[in-house]
Amino acid sequence: MVEIIVDGEKFSVNEKGNLITELKKHNIEIPHFCYHEALGVSGNCRMCLIEVVGQKRPQIACDTPIKDGMEIKINSELTRAVQRGILELEFINHPLDCPVCDQAGECDLQDYYMKFDLQDSKVSLADKVKKGKREDLGSLVIHDEERCVLCRRCVRFTQICTQTNELAVGGRGEHSHIMLMNGKKIDNPYAGNIVDICPVGAMTSADFRFKKRVWHLQKTPAICQGCERGCAIWIDSNKAKYQDSKIYRFRPRESSVNGYFICDYGRYSYKDEQVIKRDDSAKISALALDLRTNGDQYDILASSSLSLEEMSALKILANEFNMGLYGFSDFRDESFKDEIGLKLRVPNKTANRVGLNKLGIGRNLDKKSKNLIVFHLGRDFEFINKFEFDNLIKIGSNSDADIVCASSYHRDGHTLNIDEKLRFSKGAFEPLSPKICDIIAEFIGRRVEFDMSILKAFA
Ligand code: SF4
Ligand code: SF4
Ligand code: FES
Repeated sequence: MVEIIVDGEKFSVNEKGNLITELKKHNIEIPHFCYHEALGVSGNCRMCLIEVVGQKRPQIACDTPIKDGMEIKINSELTRAVQRGILELEFINHPLDCPVCDQAGECDLQDYYMKFDLQDSKVSLADKVKKGKREDLGSLVIHDEERCVLCRRCVRFTQICTQTNELAVGGRGEHSHIMLMNGKKIDNPYAGNIVDICPVGAMTSADFRFKKRVWHLQKTPAICQGCERGCAIWIDSNKAKYQDSKIYRFRPRESSVNGYFICDYGRYSYKDEQVIKRDDSAKISALALDLRTNGDQYDILASSSLSLEEMSALKILANEFNMGLYGFSDFRDESFKDEIGLKLRVPNKTANRVGLNKLGIGRNLDKKSKNLIVFHLGRDFEFINKFEFDNLIKIGSNSDADIVCASSYHRDGHTLNIDEKLRFSKGAFEPLSPKICDIIAEFIGRRVEFDMSILKAFA
């Protein structure tokens, strides 16, 4: 670590780090478009120009090496003048789209204009150059050429991260534009990230466009349940009171597990995770009554989609009524794994296979149970079709369930990912259906406390 001086104040930073990222850790913002932690330095946008004491001209912060004792000025007249100049250049032909643009509210260009610019346009609307709009690039990515600031993040993402090279910059100078390489549409399992990394509204999601203004969304930190990688995500759900709670999108949340990205399978899995409105309370009460007299006639099957809390509660339920407890975690899909690129996706398509094993819930469903209660969260109960039972009761978060419960995104829960990392997922909003732990509480007539020492063992 070395000390540098920013606007007269000393800060300790990593000498080998990037100036923009290092100062972000101290909540100091240097405006930028093309630099991205996962894509490295490109140096094409010039938005990050700052005054460096001792240098004749402003320098790009993204590519200025950190040196002990260096002094920079990010609020000086010179830095501000340069930023206004770059923004003026960006806005010359930028459309007046903010009122209808899906990026409004989370657009760097809009934010920088408000923070550092606020100039009137010197080009009239009639004189602005018109470019392509609503170009379908494939994989639910829609491009709006007029809004593009040519930072090339999208191009670099397909080169560096997915290694699929679908995008390129065509033309030269003022005719430069983002185009599909050889006219072939985007075709990779991580395409949705292109929309996230575009700093302006030039890349939008066909799935999300025009569905919600972002300031009407609340974000909840959660963990994707799509496979046992356990990527960190934001759940963006409806914020308005007195309206049906609804999830509008999943977005990546930066973490050591997934970096800055998630796969499209996980991203769009929110569609299978909306609240199902069905009142199964009578069925829960009837089953609770039967368990109290005939509990030992039932067995339980816990799938690896459940949280550690839910699995532990099932162990208590099994003990209470002397029931057999089995586990099922074979949700493997070998074709899901990536051979190149980000390689986040792993074949087992539930989040907690490791947790199931660590809690010692056996995988041996060897005897034919007379009555089996299956607990499973996720899109379907198809896996159970390969077994035969006299009487099967399905408790889960999809509409095939006999008793519908809250999904993994509507309750708090811990899982262990493929690398045995403990992951915590927060429920987006209070569910309309009971959580699995509430159902178990009704079965045994009391709430079960989760033994926190289980988490400590995995932390
Ligand atoms: S489309 Fe977005 S990410 Fe791609 S170059 Fe333009 S502004 Fe940058
Ligand atoms: S890699 Fe797995 S955990 Fe990550 S987003 Fe995709 S499905 Fe979800
Ligand atoms: S972020 Fe430094 S030049 Fe673009």
